[in-house]
Amino acid sequence: MAFVDKVVAGAILPIVPKFVARRFAKRYVPGEKLEDALAVVKKLNSLGMCATVDVLGEFSTSLNEAVSAAEEYNRALEAIADENLDSNISLKPTHLGLKINREKCYELIKELCEKARQADNFVRIDMEDSACTQDTLDMYVRLRKEYDNVGTVVQSYLRRTLDDVRKLLSSNTNLRICKGVYVEPRRIAYKDMSIINRNYMAIVELMLFNGGYAGIATHDEVLVWEVLDLIERLNPSAHKFEFQMLWGVDNELRDILLETGHKLRIYIPYGENWYAYSTRRLKENPRLAGFVFKAALKR
Ligand code: FDA
Repeated sequence: MAFVDKVVAGAILPIVPKFVARRFAKRYVPGEKLEDALAVVKKLNSLGMCATVDVLGEFSTSLNEAVSAAEEYNRALEAIADENLDSNISLKPTHLGLKINREKCYELIKELCEKARQADNFVRIDMEDSACTQDTLDMYVRLRKEYDNVGTVVQSYLRRTLDDVRKLLSSNTNLRICKGVYVEPRRIAYKDMSIINRNYMAIVELMLFNGGYAGIATHDEVLVWEVLDLIERLNPSAHKFEFQMLWGVDNELRDILLETGHKLRIYIPYGENWYAYSTRRLKENPRLAGFVFKAALKR
C-alpha cells in the first residue's frame, strides 16, 4: 500500500487541477474565510461538539505575513466571543514567524494568549517538524508561567517525547497528544507503528495519572479503544481530558465517540492558503495522500 500512496502523492497529485483539488479539500477545509469555519463551529456546537479553528499557513517568510496571521487569529477570537461559540484556536509557530524572529513570534502568541484569557478562551500551539520542537516547547513553558489558557502538542512518533512529557508534567501541563504528521528521520522518530502506538498510550497514561490535561487526538480506533479502557480504569475527572479529531475524517468514529458522552473537539482549518498547504502536506507524506485517496473512493 505504501507504493500506492507514493504514486498518489508523487504522480497523481501534481496533475490534479486546482478546481478538482478544491472538491477534495472541501472535505477537510470548509472554506477560505473565517465565516466558513464559524458556520461549521456553530453546527458542531449544536450537535454537542466543541471546536478549535486553525488559520491555514506555515513558514511565514516575512514579519508582515506573521503579523497578518496574528491579526486573523485576533479576529477569530473576537468572533468566537461575539457569537458565543464553543471553540478555541490552534496556531503554528512558523506561521507566526518562528523561523524569522523567535522573540517576535513569542510576543505575537503572548498577545493572543492575553486576548484569549480576557474572553475566557484558550490557545493551542500546534507542533510542527522536529526542527521546531525545542523552540515550541520552550515558548510553551515560558508562556505557561503567565497563562494557564495555553497548551501545546506532543507527537508520539518522536523518540524524545516521553522525556519531554515527564519534564512538562511538573507544571500542571496541557497537551494534545498526536502521532505526528511530518516525515522525520529514523534517528529522531520511530517508524514502527506498533511502537508509535505504545508510546502514544504511555504518554496518555502518564498524563492521566499525573493530573495533566490530555487532548487525545487520533482517529485510530485501536487507540481510541485503549484510551476508553484506561479512562474506565483510572476514572479521571472529566475536566482533565477530551478527544480531538480533524474535521472531515471518519465521521462514524466521531459519532461513536460523541455517544460515549466524553468531550469531543473538532479541528477546523480554514484560509486562503488551503491549496499550497494541502499539497505540500500531501506530497511530503504519501501515507496522508493514501488516506485522502481511499476516503474519496469510499464516497
Ligand atoms: P492513523 O494515522 O493510524 O490513522 C487512523 C485512520 O484515520 C486511518 O487509517 C485513516 O482511515 C484515518 N485518517 C487519519 N488521518 C486522515 C486524514 N488526514 N484524511 C483521511 N483519513 C485519515 N500532527 C502534528 O504533527 N502536529 C499537530 O499539531 C497535530 N495536530 C492534530 C490535531 C488533531 C485534532 C488531530 C486529530 C491530529 C493532529 N495531528 C497533528 C495529526 C496527527 O499527528 C496524525 O498525523 C493524524 O491524526 C493521523 O494519525 P491517527 O492517530 O489518526 O492514526
